[in-house]
Amino acid sequence: MTQKRILSGMQPTNNLHLGNYLGALKNWVALQEEGAECLYCIVDLHAITMPQDPDDLRRSTREIAAGYIACGIDPTQSIIFPQSMVAGHSQLMWLLATMTQVGKLNRMTQFKDKAGKNAEKAGLGLYAYPVLMAADILLYKATHVPVGDDQKQHLELAREIASTFNHRYKQEFFVPPAPYIMGEATRVMSLRDGTQKMSKSAESDMSRINLIDDADTIAKKIRKAKTDAAPLPETIKDLENRPEAKNLITIYASLLDKTSQEVLTELAGKQFSEFKPLLVDVAVAHLAPITARMNDLMRDVSEIDKILKDGAEKANALAEPVVRETMDIMGFLINKARF
Ligand code: TYM
Repeated sequence: MTQKRILSGMQPTNNLHLGNYLGALKNWVALQEEGAECLYCIVDLHAITMPQDPDDLRRSTREIAAGYIACGIDPTQSIIFPQSMVAGHSQLMWLLATMTQVGKLNRMTQFKDKAGKNAEKAGLGLYAYPVLMAADILLYKATHVPVGDDQKQHLELAREIASTFNHRYKQEFFVPPAPYIMGEATRVMSLRDGTQKMSKSAESDMSRINLIDDADTIAKKIRKAKTDAAPLPETIKDLENRPEAKNLITIYASLLDKTSQEVLTELAGKQFSEFKPLLVDVAVAHLAPITARMNDLMRDVSEIDKILKDGAEKANALAEPVVRETMDIMGFLINKARF
């Protein structure tokens, strides 16, 4: 049996929020603690599929690295690196792009959402985004990819691309990666509208809790979070048509490592005026140490740069032979050259 190898990544665009933390990062730490071989990438090449100011990109890349470490990713146990420092991501992307059908890319909902009505003017990079994501994963022959629910479709495509390659070249070379969609909070919703995903790009900052928010800001955002007038019910089924209530319960449960049902059993009958202060306390207690550590790390960016460079060297050592072998299988004279 193949050994478990984990790969995942986040885009260095804007701030990390509670959705990134509960949907992904928290699970990344758990997998590291289990002793799995983990690679956690900062996907800066994905970030530029939307225009980025160069200074902001540099700052965000370091900030995401600080966020990973502050949440518990230990650079001595896991490999943390920016995608752009390992040439193999872009190299493999091109190779895989040649065997990805545009019909499949046309079905990607993230592209449709991001390109909006103006799809004709969207960049080729935004369209090809899922192929780069497939390359990120296949480059390391990662077996498991811990992500939030919104990345499911991209992972399905990565599996298909792996199978297309294996089928075309008649060998089990790439490992079709399994999605790891873990925990209670696989899709954290906006605090202003329980039918919309919490996202970095939503206009209102009140819709999300950022990992760099201070205690007062977190308290204000939770106090103002949209709710309904009914008290908390006894069962999850009763939350079905109450998206905002469901979201706050999910967040609370996930922060406490409990199930939503366990939380409802404790809190049934309470009004939001009683529940929200409990949620504020739990959120602040959980996030304050992370924020403090992130701010601390950002005071010495040279240390972050060193961690990223070391990580990239380790990642590169794994990636380079895979690119070389892929190219050799495809018929390139790569083994006659050095790169
Ligand atoms: P990104 O940067 O949008 O999000 C990073 C991770 O956070 C999860 N996430 C959420 N989970 C629950 N609720 C939410 N509201 C929420 N918002 C975001 C995402 O599912 C993701 O796990 N395409 C990826 C980045 C990527 C990648 C990869 C991931 C590029 N290459 C290879 C895994 C493997 C993305 O845009 O994530």
